Amino acid sequence: MKSNRIILLLAAILFVHAANAQDMYTINTSVKKPIAPTMWGLFFEDINRSGDGGVYAELIKNRSFDFPDAFMGWGVQPSRGDYARNDIFQVINQSADYPNDPKYLQVNIAKAGNYLLVNEGFGGIAVKKNSVYVFTILYRVTVPGISITAEILNASNQVVGSAEITSLKTGEGWQSATANITVSDTTADGKMVVRFNGAGKMDIDRLSLFPIDTWQKRPGGLRADLVQKLADMQPGFLRFPGGCIVEGESIESRYQWKKTIGPLEERKLNSNQWSSGGASGKAMPDYFQSYGLGFLEYFQLCEDLQCEPLPILNCGLSCQFGAGEVVSVNEIDPYVQDALDLVEFANGDEHTKWGAKRAALGHPGKFNLKMIGIGNENWGPQYMERLRLFTKAIKSRYPSIQLITSTGYSPNPQFHYMDSVLRKEKVDIIDEHYYQTPKWFFMNAGKYDHSDRQGPKIFLGEYACHSVRIGNTGNKNTQLCALAEAAFMTGLERNSDIVTMAAYAPLFAHVTDWQWTPNLIWFDNDTSYNTPSYYVQQLFALNRGTHSVELSLDNKPVAGQDSVWACAATDERNGEMIIKIVNASATAKNKQVNLGNIKAKKTATVTVLASSDPSAANSIESPSVVEPRTSDITINGKKLAIGLAPYSFTVIKIKTTK
Ligand code: AHR
Repeated sequence: MKSNRIILLLAAILFVHAANAQDMYTINTSVKKPIAPTMWGLFFEDINRSGDGGVYAELIKNRSFDFPDAFMGWGVQPSRGDYARNDIFQVINQSADYPNDPKYLQVNIAKAGNYLLVNEGFGGIAVKKNSVYVFTILYRVTVPGISITAEILNASNQVVGSAEITSLKTGEGWQSATANITVSDTTADGKMVVRFNGAGKMDIDRLSLFPIDTWQKRPGGLRADLVQKLADMQPGFLRFPGGCIVEGESIESRYQWKKTIGPLEERKLNSNQWSSGGASGKAMPDYFQSYGLGFLEYFQLCEDLQCEPLPILNCGLSCQFGAGEVVSVNEIDPYVQDALDLVEFANGDEHTKWGAKRAALGHPGKFNLKMIGIGNENWGPQYMERLRLFTKAIKSRYPSIQLITSTGYSPNPQFHYMDSVLRKEKVDIIDEHYYQTPKWFFMNAGKYDHSDRQGPKIFLGEYACHSVRIGNTGNKNTQLCALAEAAFMTGLERNSDIVTMAAYAPLFAHVTDWQWTPNLIWFDNDTSYNTPSYYVQQLFALNRGTHSVELSLDNKPVAGQDSVWACAATDERNGEMIIKIVNASATAKNKQVNLGNIKAKKTATVTVLASSDPSAANSIESPSVVEPRTSDITINGKKLAIGLAPYSFTVIKIKTTK
């Protein structure tokens, strides 16, 4: 975020003409509601190449030869059509003995020659000049004599970095060797070549390449630039692993957290249900879940981001948009047990079975899990029947764990059925999903103003403004969409006594490999950009406050009068008053806020996200078309005059004294 502390700019924006009475907002700090620390969070799902090929920093596609086509992503020399290839490179399938890691590559060289493997990466391999990349091979030598050279090539097939692995151990079972490769030139579209020198025989179970500079420098970790964007949002929670992927297109392919922990070779490759194309219709047959980013990495990430983990678990239903398979209630116990075991994995001490596993994986400390979602987007009596079984088991063992319950995917008849049943059952938290048009978001900013204050808390588990309509490939992350979300969020903040969590969805998308649009952060193999929606989310999270207070116009919430939406919060930790205002019209506006009994210090900051063009959007080529700007303002007296730019979201932070 740019911080232009230029008072001149401010003068253009603020403290313009005096406003008339209709433009006078009043703050009343005696009406206050706590804002949960979890309020603004994140939703992660491996959709749009968010995980494999995205934030999980592995650069090699099909690194373990476990894709259904074992050579997918790999070129070989001799080539695939060459009969000699089968003598030299053979894929051995031992799925009966090793179901989680069924395949490996056998390399059998009788006569030294020019034999090699080439990996194309995820649409190319991007490397940066002077950066270091860690090549790893998991191997077993049966006849010594082969040495290996790993090379990184640029788009013109020039070698920009290489390392030799000469000291391979013989006859000692599976071994791992690594080498650091320093790259001499930047390339966005490179590849990796593994050359086999000499003659001999060896088996290879994994070939891997990671940047050394991952997030927190963890070996085999996450892309630092992308995680930094999450850290910059200071999220309150991280929902994981989805999304529809929780349910799977079939029960068989559902997400099972126990299959995502431990050594990589024990994490069985799974299909990715988004490989069939989703909204974009672009099938990606090479899109799988390696689970390199699994549940331990997820909990660690929450720890890094200092946010609450919010795992969502399968409840015995596969995706209800698809086949909607339903696990018989007679066979639901293992699903419920998975939930109980996850709590123990996160919170159990080292004497418990799953707490001991966590410790053995290198994390003796507990993760202090406080909530779990039962089902992602599920609905109907079949959901309720299973939810009750989960609830009974979890609450009797872990009464303090809060359960998130689903209302389905949209405010439709199923939603209303679920909402009424869940309220009768007095559930903890109801998860609502809204993928709607700008108009819907503007119109629904008052949605919770008259909700039951005694009922369950509300979690906006997934929402995003779709510029055209849900499922349309022309949806863009426009400034208008960001403003519609901001307007809606003013209503969430105003109702912070019942709305305790909210997350935009989805979080990430690869600019060429996506199945869903819009998304919060777009990236390619090398770089990324923030959308206007990202900045709205960030501005709310960084300016969360501890209590929402009343901001009104004629005793009514500011929710669309004169195309303005607004809310106010205090931060009792550091004595601040925070006002957030959306102007969704093409004209600049002058408003005033009566600060009442607030004792404001002279200087405040104002951050503005504005564009004269409501369809403006950022892109990889132009990442800064819409960006927030911050400046200082001086406050004189009790009436704060505010000039609102056309199509803008403005956050004013006022320091107060007692
Ligand atoms: O966020 C994309 C998808 O939208 C999620 O996977 C699903 O829960 C919802 O329908």
